[in-house]
Amino acid sequence: MDLTQHIRNTFIHRFGAEPIIVRSPGRINLIGEHTDYNDGLVLPAAIDKAVYVAVKENPHNVMRLVSDEYKDVVEVPVANLAPSSAKPWTNYIVGVADQFQKRGFKVGGFDLVIAGDVPLGAGLSSSAAVECATAYALNEIFAYGLERLELVKLAQLAEHEFAGVKCGIMDQFASVFGKNDHLIKLDCRSLEYTYIPIDLTGYKLILFDSCVKHSLASSAYNTRREECESGLRMIQYYYPEVKSLRDATLEQVVECIKPVDQTVYKRCVYVVMEINRVELACEDLLRHDLASFGQRMFQTHAGLSCEYEVSCAELDFLVDQVKHFPSVIGARMMGGGFGGCTINLIAEDSVNQVTEAVTQSYQQKFAVAPRVYEVAPSAGTAVLV
Ligand code: GLA
Repeated sequence: MDLTQHIRNTFIHRFGAEPIIVRSPGRINLIGEHTDYNDGLVLPAAIDKAVYVAVKENPHNVMRLVSDEYKDVVEVPVANLAPSSAKPWTNYIVGVADQFQKRGFKVGGFDLVIAGDVPLGAGLSSSAAVECATAYALNEIFAYGLERLELVKLAQLAEHEFAGVKCGIMDQFASVFGKNDHLIKLDCRSLEYTYIPIDLTGYKLILFDSCVKHSLASSAYNTRREECESGLRMIQYYYPEVKSLRDATLEQVVECIKPVDQTVYKRCVYVVMEINRVELACEDLLRHDLASFGQRMFQTHAGLSCEYEVSCAELDFLVDQVKHFPSVIGARMMGGGFGGCTINLIAEDSVNQVTEAVTQSYQQKFAVAPRVYEVAPSAGTAVLV
């Protein structure tokens, strides 16, 4: 049975009514990491793995939340919304309801069943998918009339306030705005975006999941954000016209930060170079030069590992291993870091060989097999029934 049918049956069985069902996908990011909260560019795509919510209003002024994954039922009065440390999975749903309330919308009682096939804690933004599915569904059932971009911003704020991660806008944007067979080149300052067709003929996008859960990384993520802000202030002291690291040049980073703070210097060098790299990578794609694009993915990994320091031994190992195979034309850690997946561009006919070799060597070294996912750029958030 597919997930849509399964979640519908669960809802009807439990609540005896017909829900609407919203699907919101996880995301990958081809290049442009830790650039979104620096007003930079990113190149994500929604994927063919998603979160599904079945939702209908109820007359009780209570949210009744049912999770397939956690075999859990939680009741939350809509008049009293706060983050929960006992049931963290509910934060992504309740946090969204809270954001609607903060914007002055009346949130009535509702029933919600959630399920999905986005691996949790693997860096595929399952949390953004939950937030976006919830935001979209509540916008539908309570007819708030918000546009997609507003839902994206609201979902991002829910993550800030109820999950405690000061994330950028990339994950929620990709989940909502995904398009089949396309990447999204998003300017995180203007929020202008263009869809870039990705022609992967002969290649596959393969993720190797280190199985290192990155959920403990939120504080380190927030620290990186603060380091960027601190670097920006050092530049602004001399160049007040620089509004974000997006505007900064490498020369300014060297001049203003290097003499003051070596760590902040490394972080900012990475960000400035990465923003530039996304532009060049997009040009590669438009020229159908996947080989050059892949080289930039390797460069991004090096920067994330050595300068931004958000990789870990497991992710570095996965990237190093695939370098033995000329058929792997690009690889890097993906997302916030400290665990999760690497993303790999692999020639189709060697996917099995590479996967077997990497699985074996990883297992030998870390005593656990990496999970392997093939992903394809897919459509964004939508109502299914
Ligand atoms: C996480 C955040 C995003 C982005 C990436 C790193 O996924 O949620 O906003 O900052 O890390 O690129």
